[in-house]
Amino acid sequence: MPAYSDLVVEHFQNPRNSGEMTDPDGEATTANPVCGDRMRVMIRVKGGRVTEMRWLTRGCPPAIATSSFASELIRGWTLAEVEALTREQLAEGIGGLPKDKVHCSVLAADALRAAIADYRGRSGSP
Ligand code: FES
Repeated sequence: MPAYSDLVVEHFQNPRNSGEMTDPDGEATTANPVCGDRMRVMIRVKGGRVTEMRWLTRGCPPAIATSSFASELIRGWTLAEVEALTREQLAEGIGGLPKDKVHCSVLAADALRAAIADYRGRSGSP
């Protein structure tokens, strides 16, 4: 994968926090409108902060890598902070993505927002 940063390769080869979560506080599955790849995100929320994120992604190496990266990045963030996270921030945080692969980081950003919306719906949290 010569076009990818060392961090992308490292997260792709050693993904963090992948797999199911028992009784998540919020969850969502989204598809990438560009390619149809899919990601499921499950979150645990305590005191208004995301304390854990787990994920299952069917996608390309950058999608897997940004899913893994996001799961470590957002631990402890407030709901509002996670909702404001952009795909560009994820792509930059992981060392950049090739121009034709920047869209791959949209999965994690969109799925996280949807999982928080699910949490807000379940908990009645504004
Ligand atoms: Fe589909 Fe990368 S090609 S997420």
